[in-house]
Amino acid sequence: MKTSSDKHKWVRHKQNKNCDSVHHPKEKILQLNNFKEYFKNKEILEVFGGQGNLTDYYNNYGNTTALTKEKFGSSFDYIYQLRAKKKKYNVIDIDSYGYPDLFFPVVFEMIKDNGLLIFTFPIVGVNCLNGIQEQHFITFWRSSRPTIGDVTGILTDMSLRNWILLELKDVVKIDRIYRFVFKCKKLKATDMTNVKNNGKHLAKQTTMF
Ligand SMILES: C[S@@+](CC[C@H](N)C(=O)[O-])C[C@H]1O[C@@H](n2cnc3c(N)ncnc32)[C@H](O)[C@@H]1O
Repeated sequence: MKTSSDKHKWVRHKQNKNCDSVHHPKEKILQLNNFKEYFKNKEILEVFGGQGNLTDYYNNYGNTTALTKEKFGSSFDYIYQLRAKKKKYNVIDIDSYGYPDLFFPVVFEMIKDNGLLIFTFPIVGVNCLNGIQEQHFITFWRSSRPTIGDVTGILTDMSLRNWILLELKDVVKIDRIYRFVFKCKKLKATDMTNVKNNGKHLAKQTTMF
């Protein structure tokens, strides 16, 4: 009988071989087809570009920057180079095999108004969990088994720090992963807080002592 560790190794092996059975391009594209109007003539950033199935798809619509490991090194590092150049995108798609957690909150600084944030999120419970991963989930998602609701709640709180309101447009389960699609609506801080930004509301700065 195969143990969960054996199964994990087998999945890793198939990932290294880039098998469709572990990265599901057809199913991902089926979902993306519902959002074509967001891609037309738009700036698209693909994180973890891999072998380019989604790149080929996005190239039919917009100007796609695909971060492949071979060309740009680790996407976890390279995204900060794009951030430093103040690059902004209408669509950011994070298609990692593992969790996208470390791309938050930086992507909220790089998404344009009404842009789409799309990402892959392995379903917890199917994956083999160890104590470190479990603690990471609790630290990041406030839950040892983050659900769709946990992910949506935490990201909503996080994006509001950048004055962005998230709208969950779609989430599909494909085998062992979820694919989330969020629309990112920029808010005017003045509207949201009902404060006029003319400086008049600011108290004069004085020393407390
Ligand atoms: C889920 S696949 C992406 C599939 C791709 N979207 C497609 O449709 O062909 C994830 C890819 O990211 C690559 N990868 C792994 N670690 C990476 C890293 N740190 N930075 C960038 N790419 C990485 C893997 O080799 C794999 O090809």
